[in-house]
Amino acid sequence: MCGIVGFVGENEAAPILIEGLRRLEYRGYDSAGIAVKGESVTVVKEKGRIDNLKSCVDDVNPKGTVGIGHTRWATHGAPDRINAHPHKSMNDIVTLVHNGIIENYIELKNDLIKKGYEFKSQTDTEVIAQLFDSLFDGDAISTLIKVAQKLEGSYAVAMLVKGYDDKVFAMKKDSPMIVGKGDGQNYLASDIPAILPYTRDCYIVNDGEFIEISKDEIKVFDKNGNPKNAEIKTIDLSIESAEKCGYDFFMAKEIFEQPKAVKDTVSPLIKDGKIVLPFEFPENFIKELKRIYIVACGSAYHVGMTAKYIIEDMVRVPVTVDIASEFRYRNPIIGKGDLCIFVSQSGETADTLASLREAKARGAFTMSIVNVLFSTIARDSDGVIYTNAGAEIAVATTKAFSAQLGVAYVLSAYMAHEKELMSDAELKSFTDEILALPEKIKTALDTDAITERLSKHIATKEHMFFIGRGIDYPLCLEGSLKLKEISYIHCEGYGAGELKHGTISLIEPGTVVAAVATDDELYGKMVSNIKEVHARGAFVIAVVKEGTKGIEEIADEVIYIPKAPKNLMPSLTVIPLQLLAYHTTVAKGLDVDKPRNLAKSVTVE
Ligand code: AGP
Repeated sequence: MCGIVGFVGENEAAPILIEGLRRLEYRGYDSAGIAVKGESVTVVKEKGRIDNLKSCVDDVNPKGTVGIGHTRWATHGAPDRINAHPHKSMNDIVTLVHNGIIENYIELKNDLIKKGYEFKSQTDTEVIAQLFDSLFDGDAISTLIKVAQKLEGSYAVAMLVKGYDDKVFAMKKDSPMIVGKGDGQNYLASDIPAILPYTRDCYIVNDGEFIEISKDEIKVFDKNGNPKNAEIKTIDLSIESAEKCGYDFFMAKEIFEQPKAVKDTVSPLIKDGKIVLPFEFPENFIKELKRIYIVACGSAYHVGMTAKYIIEDMVRVPVTVDIASEFRYRNPIIGKGDLCIFVSQSGETADTLASLREAKARGAFTMSIVNVLFSTIARDSDGVIYTNAGAEIAVATTKAFSAQLGVAYVLSAYMAHEKELMSDAELKSFTDEILALPEKIKTALDTDAITERLSKHIATKEHMFFIGRGIDYPLCLEGSLKLKEISYIHCEGYGAGELKHGTISLIEPGTVVAAVATDDELYGKMVSNIKEVHARGAFVIAVVKEGTKGIEEIADEVIYIPKAPKNLMPSLTVIPLQLLAYHTTVAKGLDVDKPRNLAKSVTVE
């Protein structure tokens, strides 16, 4: 997704803007640009990576201590220099950058063309610039308010306005925006890592607020133009958590940070064998709970699917798991008394956020499991449990996924105990097992060597299958997504029992199949499924608990992982699957952290 930075201070803006954009690269982009206010506003923008932009900026050398910058993930118009941000209005009144989608931009553009405005790009963003230009009344904030009243869709906008030489303005709706408070300089950014080198004091901008920053002041206005107090929060994140710390890729660092991420997430929720949630459900809500929905996208959705097996096993309440882009449009049967759980690393995923608002509007109790502090989904939920995984930079999620699993275990146990399906003693025993997971994850990371060896073989393939049953099935979906999204190998995650209903026709000599078989009760069935694919020539990589008997006779390779109670095994199963994806991608010489076409946070539909 697009990244925005802004700066007002005493130092040259250009290098600070470039550095800020580099720290937002993980959000995914295909062009970038900056605008610096000196004698006039100089715009430098270029297709491709930040390095391309940097060499153009070095040539132009724009001078000034006020500026904005942008990395663009193309939605409207090709990823080229014309469509790259910033965009200037026709009369040079405003220069701006935008993250989001203006849904009524065609209608607005046609009106502006009738008024004589000429457009250079195909973007919806340029429409915002021309609209501001057409409504400019000499006052930036009042003009911004008028512009916002006409826009439909999502936006975070930062802009330089004629006549305001030492200020940057901003507004947002549904797309993220934070203000960084420095000493004699202030910042704007889409996400925290961009401001970390300069400050950890920030203001999280809310929908419908309008921002004016100068080097010594941060002003916030409401939708009527009235000043509001800017409550500054200190972000407890170190720069190290946004640095590679010696690893070749952020994904590698984040895979190996998982023991700590899980420990930091679950420990605050467990005190002396009891569970302490950071918010309260309404009285008797869980006791009387009849239906649970879990709504998310991508890997977060796989956490939801995994949680379904655990919650239904322990809490005996039916769980419906939806991908957010479907939930929000299928007129869900949800209302008062229902619990709707939203899982999101970024806390800004557009479909998940819209689904949250849909569930809330229908009266459900909404809670979220989120990694990014103060993100929109976290703030809009009735209750939030943060995964303390730290900044996750790689597009392919790993430590946030594992931390989300940790919350799912704790929440399942909490609800089972509330419904008196789990005694105090059983709760103590289960929570002890949860607290033991970080050490077991550390042991599971020892599969690094075998996964690296096997990745050389997988890297030669165009297709791969992941099959499993029961709680291993959603882990197969996750293993499949991990591998395909960064190695570009086509993968399918499949219920092992479902394979023979069609897809087994794709198995031919040499097809690689990862068979995940950690559930004792389903192991015999898995043995049959492994034999079925092996008989057709598949190369089978089995992922099983240490001590599993007979597997070496039927699989070509075996990856052993530590034992844990059935419902906690996902935290261990996922480790070799992540490592297989990572090493295969490295073996193919691809950019592990920034896979093509992908964004870390999909803040558009
Ligand atoms: C996972 O590796 C992907 N990057 C993607 O599927 C991601 O899980 C999905 O976009 C949801 O993002 P969120 O957790 O920030 O809402």
